[in-house]
Amino acid sequence: MSDNYMPLVPATLAFNEHGTPVSRDFDDVYHPEWGALEQARRVFLPGNGLPARWQGKDSFTVCETGFGLGNNFLALWQAWRDDAQRPARLHVVSFEAHPFSARDLSLALAGRLQEPEKTLADQLVAAWPPLLPGLHRLEFEGGRLTLTLAFGSVARLANQVSACVDAYFLDGFAPRVNPDMWTRSLFGQLVRMANVGATAATWCCTGDVRRGLRDAGFLVTKEPGFGGKREITVATLRPGMGRSPNRTLPRQPVLVVGGGLAGAGVAQALALRGHDVTVLDPAFALGLGGSHHGHIAAAMTPVITRDDDSRARLSRAGVSRALQRWQGLPGQARPLLCGTIALARDAQQEADCHSALEHLAFPADWVTWLSREQASERAGRALSCGGLWFAQGQKVQPQALLEALLCHPRIHCMVNQVEQLRPDGTGLWLAMDSRGKELARGAQVVLANAAQATALLASMPNASNLPKVESMYRLAGQVSYYSGTAVAPQVVLAGDGYCLPPIEGRFVGGSTYGLDSAQSCITQQGHAEVSRKVAGLLNVPLSGLGRLPGLDDGWAGWRAAVSDRLPVIGPIDEMPGIWLACAYGSRGLSWAALAGDVIAATLDQEPLPLERELLRRIAPR
Ligand SMILES: Cc1cc2nc3c(=O)[nH]c(=O)nc-3n(C[C@H](O)[C@H](O)[C@H](O)COP(=O)(O)OP(=O)(O)OC[C@H]3O[C@@H](n4cnc5c(N)ncnc54)[C@H](O)[C@@H]3O)c2cc1C
Ligand SMILES: C[S@@+](CC[C@H](N)C(=O)[O-])C[C@H]1O[C@@H](n2cnc3c(N)ncnc32)[C@H](O)[C@@H]1O
Repeated sequence: MSDNYMPLVPATLAFNEHGTPVSRDFDDVYHPEWGALEQARRVFLPGNGLPARWQGKDSFTVCETGFGLGNNFLALWQAWRDDAQRPARLHVVSFEAHPFSARDLSLALAGRLQEPEKTLADQLVAAWPPLLPGLHRLEFEGGRLTLTLAFGSVARLANQVSACVDAYFLDGFAPRVNPDMWTRSLFGQLVRMANVGATAATWCCTGDVRRGLRDAGFLVTKEPGFGGKREITVATLRPGMGRSPNRTLPRQPVLVVGGGLAGAGVAQALALRGHDVTVLDPAFALGLGGSHHGHIAAAMTPVITRDDDSRARLSRAGVSRALQRWQGLPGQARPLLCGTIALARDAQQEADCHSALEHLAFPADWVTWLSREQASERAGRALSCGGLWFAQGQKVQPQALLEALLCHPRIHCMVNQVEQLRPDGTGLWLAMDSRGKELARGAQVVLANAAQATALLASMPNASNLPKVESMYRLAGQVSYYSGTAVAPQVVLAGDGYCLPPIEGRFVGGSTYGLDSAQSCITQQGHAEVSRKVAGLLNVPLSGLGRLPGLDDGWAGWRAAVSDRLPVIGPIDEMPGIWLACAYGSRGLSWAALAGDVIAATLDQEPLPLERELLRRIAPR
């Protein structure tokens, strides 16, 4: 997708003379005049044998082609709520090339729906993502209902979705006006994702669609229709086809080696899904936030590139995941949604920003250009140039964040260094200290110990050869703390370095990069380097920063990275039960929540929150 970027074109809200929503572009209605929820209850739910087919299951996954106004989703959600025998978790994946804005969605649903769906619609609108291409993961009912929206044409995205689907709602506009939603290639992708016994239903009865479904692998039949439609189509995957879901085994604890941002993100995602997690890290001797002890604030900002490359797509997925996962945290652990201005260093960079914005056509409430005057007003001080404004930019207090993520009744933290990992002969992994003493045991082990993951992996029996991971290197770095808050910005300022809004009478500036350092510590030389950057960003002379920081006024740490500067996240295929979550480089905050959900969702066979192409880019191999 990177080199043939297609901007997302939102839908325009319009109604016909009967008050039914219509698409002027496709010349079709969003649902029959006799009712959207009724169609869901008469075609899509019973055509898939619901609710009976999900009863007694732990989880159930529905995939829809054409999210539209979300009526089918709301009807499904309500049916799930109404059913005492519902599965504990319901996952919905839905493709939509032309999403409505949150405002139009609200206008179209609010006036028409009665309770109880109206309340659900309000929750949907409140959670509605920015109109950006790619996958968006929404959660409702405390995470027991997930909605993975794939924004973009189904022709491009169907092969990018990872899901194990039990039921399909085929709800494109009519094949005559919308052939892309009924192609054989799409039906092939539906079969790729189908579980054993998967079903499909649609109001569409054309011979082509029925033959297409049949040739892809479904047994297709007609059922009586409603409201002027004589028949509907229902289909069941042929016996012998489809994936068999994992047997539900008694759950063993998951071991996480390393309790920094990577380990804490994974542990939280697993604990939220009901897994018991043991996290081991000697840094816990300084408390649960030990790996960022004394680090008072850090920045999280998405990036954009003109061709919307992997790094840009991952970063916006990561920042949006963090926003959802962390905005509900208490007190200082909740990131401050202050926004970021990424300053353009020169005229060429400004021209590049304009060109990228025009090409990407992202919504202005997500990223937009600010002139020097506008940027100065946002920052609360006179800046030397304009820049890109990211409304989702955040200031994070890493130590408080880590403490909150790890403080969960299902997470057990141990102050230990893991020196060896061995299979115990019963299908579990054994974590041991330097004397070979058992520390903990688990069926899955996530190596979240940054650059030290390489050595630990190499020490394991039958370790795989993973060139990317073996090439991991680390960079030392420090940030500096300034006490003159009069010059501090009200937003995150980024460019050559960064500086953050004030926190308890100080503000943070960053940072230094030391490739060949043997140790990472705060130095006066480091302060001088950071101060030059911060003074440049704030458009003040060095003296404007007030008293220069002393050796206690900062934080020093490491960044582990691999050559493509993407994180390494996922299972090691040749070593069942071993996962990696490392190489977070300079953007640990952007990857932490996303990596947690990628690993936990893979383990639990949920739809994944990232495109397959991106999963391949971050995979250990
Ligand atoms: C100066 C500086 C400023 C930064 N600013 C930002 C910023 O503003 N925004 C941002 O997003 N990122 C920032 N970063 C990057 C961010 O800090 C990292 O990306 C992040 O900390 C990586 O998290 P991690 O958990 O992978 O690694 P770490 O934080 O290094 O944690 C790894 C943990 O594993 C433990 N461990 C190692 N080996 C073992 C073992 N064998 N057994 C048990 N435990 C083990 C270690 O004790 C450690 O606690 C900055 C980095 C630096 C250096
Ligand atoms: C009949 S409407 C869906 C109604 C919806 N299921 C509901 O419950 O409100 C069809 C939807 O398919 C979308 N669509 C059309 N072509 C598409 C394509 N190629 N890829 C993805 N979505 C597409 C349209 O934008 C429209 O929202």
